[in-house]
Amino acid sequence: MKYISCSADQTREIAARLVKTFPEGAVICLDGEMGAGKTVFVQGCMKALGYDGRVTSPTFALCNEYSVADKTVLHYDLCRITDKDDLYSTGFYDSEADLTFVEWAGKECDGFENAVKIVISYGEKENERVIELDE
Ligand SMILES: Nc1ncnc2c1ncn2[C@@H]1O[C@H](COP(=O)(O)OP(=O)(O)OP(=O)(O)O)[C@@H](O)[C@H]1O
Ligand SMILES: [Mg+2]
Repeated sequence: MKYISCSADQTREIAARLVKTFPEGAVICLDGEMGAGKTVFVQGCMKALGYDGRVTSPTFALCNEYSVADKTVLHYDLCRITDKDDLYSTGFYDSEADLTFVEWAGKECDGFENAVKIVISYGEKENERVIELDE
């Protein structure tokens, strides 16, 4: 599926609709250039799940953990991870989270059978983004 977004808010709306279709335990692999809108996409998903807090890429921690409505959601950004052992020690490869978002997933998500792949790219117009979903 392919969606065209013309603003950050529209990306959040598309994300809010899509998050309802993600299966339990899904690993949402987000790829796309810097500033494409991966974090904005996660923000839209979290808001739709009922989360009121701030959603930003994990910086100091390798992973952000959000609790919302009995669910545990993990948010990784592999761009900042240089040591695979660090990633391993967060439980990344055997997590039992209800939902996991992975920015800059790259090949790291190929091993997950419950992966949902999303690629966000820049469109031709300013603020235009193309969101491609491949399950
Ligand atoms: N259609 C759009 N969808 C999403 N973001 C948009 C759109 N148009 C403009 N923007 C802007 O682009 C930026 C996207 O930033 P965001 O942090 O989500 O990118 P990212 O893909 O997570 O980047 P990084 O790789 O640095 O983590 C925001 O400043 C947002 O306001
Ligand atoms: Mg980001």
